Amino acid sequence: MLSAYRERTMFMYVVMAALLIAALPCAQARASDEQAEVTAAGERLVHNMDCNVCHTPKVFTPEGPRPDMTRLLSGHPSDETIPAVPEGLISPAAWGGMFNNHLTAWAGPWGVSFGSNLTPDPQTGIGLWTEDIFVSAMRSGTHVGQARPFLPPMPVYSRLTDKELHAIYVYLKSIKPVKNAVPAPLRPAQPGP
Ligand code: HEC
Repeated sequence: MLSAYRERTMFMYVVMAALLIAALPCAQARASDEQAEVTAAGERLVHNMDCNVCHTPKVFTPEGPRPDMTRLLSGHPSDETIPAVPEGLISPAAWGGMFNNHLTAWAGPWGVSFGSNLTPDPQTGIGLWTEDIFVSAMRSGTHVGQARPFLPPMPVYSRLTDKELHAIYVYLKSIKPVKNAVPAPLRPAQPGP
């Protein structure tokens, strides 16, 4: 009697375990589908908000500059030298600013700012940034989410939702890490790197 009861219990355990094991790949597939959707949403936002314009070096084609997909979002190329800004060119009575061919270095009354490395490289990109740091930087417009305010022309995206910022963060963490140490910004009249 007891052994029949035991057998039935055992059988039920085996059935339950089999059901769980069968359900596992389904749940995993669903989770990876969701992850792929979030990453794709992030890619769309980055594309539509033109992050590549200032954060991706360019290749120069007969049709004009195009983002260099091998260095996607890796920031101002550290091996590029930029000529000094001619004195007097940028002033309230003259020009407002200028930029290099990659659109990664921007000169203005603030000095020169450089599009940063947004790839997941831990040393030179945002590989060590938590999502909180990223969200705080984007919302508050401050370097690493807490230090000095961003220099122009980096926009402050204060109206992005949590969901949008999450998608952008997930996408940026998914792209190829590129080692490229972007120079620190220059003060007005400071010679180039
Ligand atoms: C018009 C040019 C421009 C556009 C468009 C732009 N950025 Fe930037 N971004 C910059 C520049 C220049 C800096 C460096 C600013 C500084 O040194 O204060 C910067 C800095 C940043 C930083 C701060 C990095 C740090 O070290 O604190 C993040 C994060 C960032 N951008 C993300 C983005 C994302 C994501 C997008 C698109 C949604 C974007 N940027 C669009 C020019 C731009």
